Amino acid sequence: MNSDHQAEASSGGPIVRLAGVNKHYGALHVLNNINLDVVKGEVVVILGPSGSGKSTLCRTINRLETIDEGTITIDGKTLPEEGKALARLRADVGMVFQSFNLFAHKTILENVTLGPIKVKGMKKSEADKLAMQLLERVGVANQAAKLPAQLSGGQQQRVAIARALAMKPKVMLFDEPTSALDPEMINEVLDTMVSLAREGMTMLVVTHEMGFARKAADRVIFMADGQIVEQATPEEFFTNPQSARAKDFLSKLITNH
Ligand SMILES: Nc1ncnc2c1ncn2[C@@H]1O[C@H](COP(=O)(O)OP(=O)(O)O)[C@@H](O)[C@H]1O
Ligand SMILES: [Mg+2]
Repeated sequence: MNSDHQAEASSGGPIVRLAGVNKHYGALHVLNNINLDVVKGEVVVILGPSGSGKSTLCRTINRLETIDEGTITIDGKTLPEEGKALARLRADVGMVFQSFNLFAHKTILENVTLGPIKVKGMKKSEADKLAMQLLERVGVANQAAKLPAQLSGGQQQRVAIARALAMKPKVMLFDEPTSALDPEMINEVLDTMVSLAREGMTMLVVTHEMGFARKAADRVIFMADGQIVEQATPEEFFTNPQSARAKDFLSKLITNH
C-alpha cells in the first residue's frame, strides 16, 4: 500500500530505528536503552503511565530533544545535529501534538501551505492546491479562509494533521492528539487517523484511546520508567499482558473509564 500523502521510502529498511537510545534529565533516566524499529506502513501505538517517557521518545525522533547515547535513523539516515540537513530530515517526520500549535494569525490555508513553501520551495499556487486537497481529505476545506480560533478543537487538530501531511512525511508521530479535545470531538480526529493508517501511512501514536489501539495498531508498545517493558499485538496485549506494570496500567484504565 502506498499513500499519496507519504513520500517514498528509499532505504528498504525500517522507516524509524532507535538503537541503544539513552537520555537523562539530571538524575532521571528518562529513556533507558530504547531499541525500536518501525517499518513502512506499520502503526505502532505507545501506551504507558504518565511520566514514563512517551513524549520524550517522540521528541527525540524529531530531534526536538537530544539524546545522550545511541542512534536514531529515519529511513536509514542518521539525524544530523543541526542546519539544513536537519530541517530536511525533520520534514520526513510529521508531528501532531496535544495542543494544536497552529499559527494564530494565519488562515487555515496559510497554516498548511507555509511548510511546503518555506521548507520545500513549492510555488504558492501549487502549495494552495495541495493544501486544499488535504483540507478536503480531513473534512475542513470549507474552513480554509478562517483563522484557527474560529474553528472547534477537533477541526483545528484535523488542520494540524493536514499541515503535517503537506510535507509528505515518511512517518507521522502523534503525541496524545485527542487529549485536549472535548469528548464529542475525539472521534472525528481518531477517524481521520484510522483512515490514514488504512491508507498505509507509517505511524507512531501515543494515546490513551484504547479503541484506536485495538482498531488501528499493528503493534502496541508499553513503556514504564523510560523502558519498553512489553510489546505485542493489541489483541495479545489487552487480553494477556505479561508484566505486572502492564497489568496494573490496564486495570486502572478499566476502573477509570
Ligand atoms: N525538559 C525536561 N526537564 C526535566 N525533566 C523532564 C523534562 N521533560 C520531561 N521530563 C520528565 O521526564 C519524565 C518523562 O516525561 P514525558 O516524556 O513527558 O512522559 P510521558 O509523555 O510518558 O508522560 C517525567 O518524569 C518528566 O517530568
Ligand atoms: Mg506525554
